[in-house]
Amino acid sequence: MEGFAYLGLIYLLLHFCYLTGRYGCYGLEECNIGCTDTGCNNTTGVCTECSPGFSGNTCNTCKRGLFGTNCTKDCNIINCKGDCDKNNGKCVECKVGFHGNNCQQNCSSGCTKRVCSKTTGHCMDGCNDRKFGSDCSKSCDITNCIDNCNRITGHCTECKPGWFGKNCESKCPVRCEGDCDISTGHCMKCKLGWFGDTCESRCLENCKGECDQANGRCKDCKNGFFGDGCTDRCPVNCTDTCLRSGGRCDKCEPDTVGTHCNGTCGAGCVPMVGTSSGTCNRIGECTTCIEGKYGTLCNMFWWMCDIWW
Ligand SMILES: *[C@@H]1O[C@H](CO)[C@@H](O)[C@H](O)[C@H]1NC(C)=O
Ligand SMILES: *[C@@H]1O[C@H](CO)[C@@H](O)[C@H](O)[C@H]1NC(C)=O
Ligand SMILES: *[C@@H]1O[C@H](CO)[C@@H](O)[C@H](O)[C@H]1NC(C)=O
Ligand SMILES: *[C@@H]1O[C@H](CO)[C@@H](O)[C@H](O)[C@H]1NC(C)=O
Ligand SMILES: *[C@@H]1O[C@H](CO)[C@@H](O)[C@H](O)[C@H]1NC(C)=O
Ligand SMILES: *[C@@H]1O[C@H](CO)[C@@H](O)[C@H](O)[C@H]1NC(C)=O
Repeated sequence: MEGFAYLGLIYLLLHFCYLTGRYGCYGLEECNIGCTDTGCNNTTGVCTECSPGFSGNTCNTCKRGLFGTNCTKDCNIINCKGDCDKNNGKCVECKVGFHGNNCQQNCSSGCTKRVCSKTTGHCMDGCNDRKFGSDCSKSCDITNCIDNCNRITGHCTECKPGWFGKNCESKCPVRCEGDCDISTGHCMKCKLGWFGDTCESRCLENCKGECDQANGRCKDCKNGFFGDGCTDRCPVNCTDTCLRSGGRCDKCEPDTVGTHCNGTCGAGCVPMVGTSSGTCNRIGECTTCIEGKYGTLCNMFWWMCDIWW
């Protein structure tokens, strides 16, 4: 058993040596090409000394700033953060503010903090104020913008009050009350007495206050008027106002009766001083009855009341 185990170990060792060709194997050891002719330790591979350009104990890599099989090429690492790739000589990472294979190009001054992608040069941390485009090199006018312009389009996302347009370069119509639409310039609201997209039209003359911004229809009529266009006069004996549709009076002048205040009090009501008409409320109920008359409308005699009571 012991003999077999021993043979097995040798087999494994030889197999390993054969596959890797590394140090510590009888007959197969080889120093790295970076070692000088003075050779290397036959178990660890540590070189006595490295050839020019190589570095490391086993001289298996190039000195900082050099690359290539023989470490003879300069990779120009002035703007590299760290070293270059030993095979292709490209910087692995760039110092902040640079991009390109060897970080030889400046990031655009429009990049926030000058941070840009090593491969594309596109800004990674956004654009400085008034800058847009993938590398933030284009300028936008943000005089009337709130905030910076859109990173991609260069257009304002929001305008200062009273301005509209891609770059908020146009003034909202004068009769807008406040803001207008950023793309059309249409008013959100009109100043009192005006209507239309840009508030260019006057509300009808009998409107009380504002009118509908789309069609100019009065929200309310001035006292004394009714109808869709507020062009009809309320009945003469209405007190001030009447219903918008149909003209029914809200209140009647004293001693007039009916929905349109065009009736008079009954003959049984005590008349107003100096007139022949009675004193009653809107539905004809008398304030006081003349002698001999009874009931709310003063149209009954005492004996009629008895019948009912
Ligand atoms: C090789 O390196 C090992 C470990 O450092 C050391 O013990 C040994 O003496 C070296 N061999 C030679 C031949 O220098
Ligand atoms: C390593 O090198 C030393 C000195 O040259 C030699 O004596 C030794 O036998 C070598 N060892 C192996 C494993 O080749
Ligand atoms: C590296 O150096 C060796 C020996 O001087 C030479 O034969 C080989 O062509 C060189 N390789 C390159 C890529 O320069
Ligand atoms: C990078 O910027 C520096 C300093 O601003 C300038 O001197 C240099 O010419 C620029 N390099 C390139 C490639 O634009
Ligand atoms: C009162 O006015 C209404 C509406 O105009 C009318 O229909 C009604 O006939 C009038 N009544 C009297 C008593 O004039
Ligand atoms: C309005 O009221 C007055 C006084 O009460 C009356 O003389 C007149 O006829 C009324 N007008 C109408 C249209 O009813």
